[in-house]
Amino acid sequence: MEGKYSASAWVLILCIATVPVHCKYHSDGEQTAPVKEKKTHLRFFLHDTISGKKPSSVMVAHANLTQGDNNPTPFGSVFVFDDPLTEGPEPTSRVIGNARGIYVSSSQGKDLSLVVYADYGFTTGKFNGSSISLFSRLPLVEAEPTHEVAVVGGRKKFRMARGFAKLKPHYFNATNVFMVVQGITEGPNAAEAWFKKLPHAKEKVTKLHFYFHDIASGKNPTAVQVAQPNATNKSPAFFGIIMMVDDPLTVRPEPTSNIMGRAQGFYGFAGMEEIELIMTMNIVFTEGEYNGSSLSILGRNPVFHRYREMPVVGGSGFFRLARGIATAKTYWVNFTSGDATVEYNIIVAHY
Ligand SMILES: *[C@@H]1O[C@H](CO)[C@@H](O)[C@H](O)[C@H]1NC(C)=O
Ligand SMILES: *[C@@H]1O[C@H](CO)[C@@H](O)[C@H](O)[C@H]1NC(C)=O
Ligand SMILES: *[C@@H]1O[C@H](CO)[C@@H](O)[C@H](O)[C@H]1NC(C)=O
Ligand SMILES: *[C@@H]1O[C@H](CO)[C@@H](O)[C@H](O)[C@H]1NC(C)=O
Ligand SMILES: *[C@@H]1O[C@H](CO)[C@@H](O)[C@H](O)[C@H]1NC(C)=O
Ligand SMILES: *[C@@H]1O[C@H](CO)[C@@H](O)[C@H](O)[C@H]1NC(C)=O
Repeated sequence: MEGKYSASAWVLILCIATVPVHCKYHSDGEQTAPVKEKKTHLRFFLHDTISGKKPSSVMVAHANLTQGDNNPTPFGSVFVFDDPLTEGPEPTSRVIGNARGIYVSSSQGKDLSLVVYADYGFTTGKFNGSSISLFSRLPLVEAEPTHEVAVVGGRKKFRMARGFAKLKPHYFNATNVFMVVQGITEGPNAAEAWFKKLPHAKEKVTKLHFYFHDIASGKNPTAVQVAQPNATNKSPAFFGIIMMVDDPLTVRPEPTSNIMGRAQGFYGFAGMEEIELIMTMNIVFTEGEYNGSSLSILGRNPVFHRYREMPVVGGSGFFRLARGIATAKTYWVNFTSGDATVEYNIIVAHY
């Protein structure tokens, strides 16, 4: 990694809506009085350092095929990070919190696209002890000056948070990577303006239907194993295996049909007795009016059930503040190779 991608700083602007909640062990679906949503904007800098003596990001796993790849963050690599958040752009400016989590490189192209799973926690001021959860795709080398990622939850002051963060590279040192910055799409100001209009915005419902192609075998797999514990060998359900995916999504069931998006992220075998996956994927659309917009899916997938339901927990672009349901149904599977085509129906509410 040395000298390829050494450090970066990001300006983050967060626009989130939260409602207060009352917690107890259980309730019987009682009605609550309407609550008022609060809106908060935050702005800070994130410093991610991969090289040097004290990296804040370390690679913890990668796929076999990843080796020898020239990408700074090759497909199938998994990083764990603990990045400082600061008030100003300099790494020496006042630290206000930290971003901790995992990011995975889940694009097979040269476009350096990550999927981020993180908790941004604050350690000073009125938000001390509060945090927000991000789960989203983060394309780094697209023709956009800012990137939008989905906020799917939060703690303490940010309970029940939904929103999005705008990330703008402030400083980026990657000798192999070109940041193509051209044209202004939606920057942080446009996002804030969008958020201001939210109380008057009407919720929209969008339905989506596509086929997901998970190819684990052959010369060009779209799903690669990145880690496995010793115990997997004894498990009837492959417990412990982690797979990274960059799976094509097509309109029709044939793999050769028109590709309208990709599913990027990872899934793990999380059942000890039955084959059950924990899916943490970002669906990004590459065609038509949803081009560039994404949906974040996080849920349990017992693959041998006829229908599997997974929550859609967030979105970006067209699907800002999305919440909804993804239903998966296996269309075709080869049990020898593990290759599968899965039919997805998604229904989401968003603004
Ligand atoms: C970028 O990183 C390389 C390797 O770590 C270093 O030699 C170089 O000075 C850095 N460039 C800038 C502009 O900081
Ligand atoms: C990775 O490569 C090693 C050595 O070539 C091999 O023993 C191992 O089975 C491979 N693992 C996977 C998951 O393909
Ligand atoms: C933040 O909260 C922690 C734990 O409650 C406390 O120990 C710490 O002193 C607080 N820091 C600031 C700057 O308020
Ligand atoms: C896994 O098995 C190998 C070979 O038997 C052993 O060397 C290694 O320590 C084991 N790893 C763990 C985490 O148990
Ligand atoms: C989708 O958006 C990307 C980047 O904004 C652009 O390069 C591409 O041509 C678009 N594709 C379609 C089919 O509109
Ligand atoms: C299933 O996968 C195996 C191993 O890759 C392959 O030999 C076989 O032809 C495949 N079967 C079908 C029906 O595609």
